[in-house]
Amino acid sequence: MQLSLQTPPSPIKTLDQVREVALGCVKCPLSQGRTNVVFGMGNPHAKLMFIGEGPGQTEDETGLPFVGRAGQLLTKIIESVGLSRDNDCYIANVVKCRPPGNRVPTDIEMAECSPYLLEQIACIQPKIIVLVGGTALKGVLGISGPISKIRGRWLETPFNAQAMAIFHPSYLLRNAASVEGTPKWLTWLDMQEIKRVYDTL
Ligand code: URA
Ligand code: URA
Repeated sequence: MQLSLQTPPSPIKTLDQVREVALGCVKCPLSQGRTNVVFGMGNPHAKLMFIGEGPGQTEDETGLPFVGRAGQLLTKIIESVGLSRDNDCYIANVVKCRPPGNRVPTDIEMAECSPYLLEQIACIQPKIIVLVGGTALKGVLGISGPISKIRGRWLETPFNAQAMAIFHPSYLLRNAASVEGTPKWLTWLDMQEIKRVYDTL
C-alpha cells in the first residue's frame, strides 16, 4: 500500500501567502544584511516569467527586482519585442536577499531560498521561463555551463514550462557592442524567438 499516494496534497499557498512567509525569512545569513526582501513583481498570471540571480543594491533598497542599471536594460530588452514588463511578465530572482557586495549566491543560499521560487512558479504557472544569466540557469535547472553555449535553444523544465537561458544584462553592460554575433545581438535574437513562441500560447 502506498500511503503517500493516498495522502491529499497539501493546499497550495497563494502568491501573497508565499510572499508573507518570505518577507519574514531568516533561514540563511543573507537575511541579516538585507534592507528588503525582493520577492518578485509583475503580473501574477503572466505566461512569461523572468528569473534572475539575486537583488543588487537598488533592488535591496526598493524591494523590487531588476530596477537598477541591469534591470533597466532588462526592461528595454523585454520592450524591444513589444512586451510590457508589468503586464506581460512576472520577474523574480533565485535568491530574495542581496548577497553582500553582489557576490554570487552560494549553493546553500540558493537551496534555502528555492522553496519560495518553486512556490512562485507553482502559483504563477508560467508557460515560458527565461533564466537570466548563469546563476539562474544553475539555480533553477542545475545546469552549469557557459550561457554562450546554452542560450538560444529551448530547455525542458519540471514545471510544465519551457525555458530559455539568456545572457545577464550586467554582462551585456560590460560587453556593449551590438554588431552581429555579439552577446547583445544574440540576446535580441533570443528575445525574438521567445516572443515568437509567446505569440503561439
Ligand atoms: N540582477 C539580478 O540578477 N537580479 C536583480 O533583481 C537585479 C540584478
Ligand atoms: N556568465 C553569466 O553568468 N552570465 C552571462 O550572461 C554571461 C556569463
